[in-house]
Amino acid sequence: MEDNQMDKIIEIIKKAKRVVVLTGAGVSAESGISTFRDPDGLWNKFNPMELASVNGFMSNPELVWDWYNYRRNIIGNTTPNAGHYAIAEMQDLFENFTLITQNVDRLHQNAGSKNVLELHGNIIDNHCLNCEEKFEDAIDISNKNVPICKKCGGKIRPSVVWFGEMLPAETLKKSEKMSAKADVFFSIGTSGEVYPAAGLPAIAKQNGAFVIEINPNQTSISYFMHSHFRNNSAEVLPEIVRKLKGLMYR
Ligand code: OAD
Ligand code: ZN
Repeated sequence: MEDNQMDKIIEIIKKAKRVVVLTGAGVSAESGISTFRDPDGLWNKFNPMELASVNGFMSNPELVWDWYNYRRNIIGNTTPNAGHYAIAEMQDLFENFTLITQNVDRLHQNAGSKNVLELHGNIIDNHCLNCEEKFEDAIDISNKNVPICKKCGGKIRPSVVWFGEMLPAETLKKSEKMSAKADVFFSIGTSGEVYPAAGLPAIAKQNGAFVIEINPNQTSISYFMHSHFRNNSAEVLPEIVRKLKGLMYR
């Protein structure tokens, strides 16, 4: 992006009172966590219907647990990147700031973001498939047995939202409400393939927000953005925040 174009967009962002950021897997890519739909993404190597659906869990819970333990191990050894930290800084730059994420890795919270709306749950907590009792400690299933609920005997599962499941209702409602009120809306590191999350930028735009995409690649929702930063989020977000804080004004 030309520098003067960047400065124009910074001016628009600076004037915003209500800012909403929606993130997807791309934000965590530079922390070493695979995305889902890129060429080396998880859904190109693994079958989501086997590993991320209630039916998949019912037919082979051991396989599903094995995969989530594998992912928890990877995620447990990662740290937030400069993009996560920049987003955390953004919460202090505006009168009203909302962070909505599809990511389950908690890296936003680890970077200092508060009140994060987790649309797809998280990979740290667990709950009972049957009675929904929460089991917030990481569960060690190294003995390969599927953990069982102490309350009802049901199978315990990771608290991520799977294909075919409803999103947490209150979180979705709040995400839609804040998107509708946004002056500026950022869609960062998401392919825009999975609804209802992918519908939030449209809600924002229809209600008057300036919508900006940060993604090195074209996405399904690129076409209706007002502006694009075709960069990696860990590179461009710190630059945007520096400019917003005025440090780079000449
Ligand atoms: P996807 O894997 O669908 O998309 C990742 C996006 O990140 C792509 O558009 C990439 O171009 C972009 N990207 C890659 N590296 C990047 C970088 N360094 N900086 C910025 N962007 C980068 O991931 P999501 O859109 O998050 O659902 O996928 C949505 C949902 O689909 C996930 O939450 C997950 C999955 O099934 C559940 O687990 C419920
Ligand atoms: Zn139970």
